[in-house]
Order: sequence, then structure tokens, then C-alpha cells
Amino acid sequence: METINRNFNTTIDYISDKSNQNQDNSESCIIQQSINQMLRLEIESYYFYTDMEVYLYHLGLNGMSNWAKLQASEELDHFKKHVEYAKIKKISITLPGIDEFNQKFSSPLDSFEKALSQEIKLGDFYNSLDHKATNFKNPSFSNYLTIFVNEQDEEINLLDNIVKRVKLAGSNSGLLIIDHDLAQREV
Ligand SMILES: [Fe+2]
Ligand SMILES: [Fe+2]
Repeated sequence: METINRNFNTTIDYISDKSNQNQDNSESCIIQQSINQMLRLEIESYYFYTDMEVYLYHLGLNGMSNWAKLQASEELDHFKKHVEYAKIKKISITLPGIDEFNQKFSSPLDSFEKALSQEIKLGDFYNSLDHKATNFKNPSFSNYLTIFVNEQDEEINLLDNIVKRVKLAGSNSGLLIIDHDLAQREV
């Protein structure tokens, strides 16, 4: 793997600290692999919400579809944030391959339940990574991860609430009320 220029404190600190070089290298390796996984998961979420956007649009639920479209764009923003982080911290990245992605949904409720599962999956991932990073020598990466741990908590709560409301709504007029509500989302 390529040598990574660590930028936790300063590069000079790193070079002068020969006694910890092996450990720091392995820590850098873990961070590089983690960033690549984070990129893959965020782009997977972007694909997921794009499938959801098209599915809901074809059902005539334009408000829900627009909500999923904005959610997809938020996931892409997360992906780009990780790219920016890699640039600033001088971490080499390996962009994930683009496999065919075709998420199937059986109903609007099913689409929101699968969205909730997707957010829980990312929440578990960021949480376990954050847990691991607390043992690292420099808090920079852990601080960065905390932003996404909190972000996932918000998204899980939001999706959980939507799932509950879609269940209560049942079908037809109830769904259209939620469709109207979700159409209000602007970002
Ligand atoms: Fe995300
Ligand atoms: Fe998300």
C-alpha cells in the first residue's frame, strides 16, 4: 500500500517520533481503509435513495420521491466530505467500484423500512469505527467520526419516525398526507 503522509499533529512530529513509527503506520493504514469503507457506504446510500426516489415517483408519491432525492444528495455530500477529509489529511483513497445496484421495494412502507435499515447499518459502522479510533494516538480522526455518529443518530430517528407514521397512515389518503408533509423538505 502507498505510504501515507500523516497529518495528525504535524508531519514533523511524525517523522521525529521514530519509536512509534510502526504503530503509527498501522494506525494510518486503518484510517485509510476506514475512509475507503466510508466512501463505499456513503455512495451505496446515494444509490439506495436514488432507487427509492424513482420507485416512489413511479407510484405518484412525488413528495416522498422528492424527500428521497434530497436524501440521496445528502449522502453524496457525505461522500464528498470524506474526499475533502482525505485531501486535507493527505490520505490516499481508492474509489469504490460501481456495481449494478437495483434495490427492490414492495411498498412505500417497505422503502422507508429499508432506508431505516440502511441508516442503522451506517450508524453501527460509524459507531464501531469511532470506538476503535478512541484508542488512536491523535483525536483528529475520532473527532471527525463523531460528526457522522451524530448524523446517523439523527437520520435513524428521522427514518424511525417516518416509518411509524407510514404504518399509521395505512394506504391511499393517509399516504397522501405524509407525501404532502415530506414534500415540504427543502434540503
Ligand atoms: Fe450518509
Ligand atoms: Fe444517511
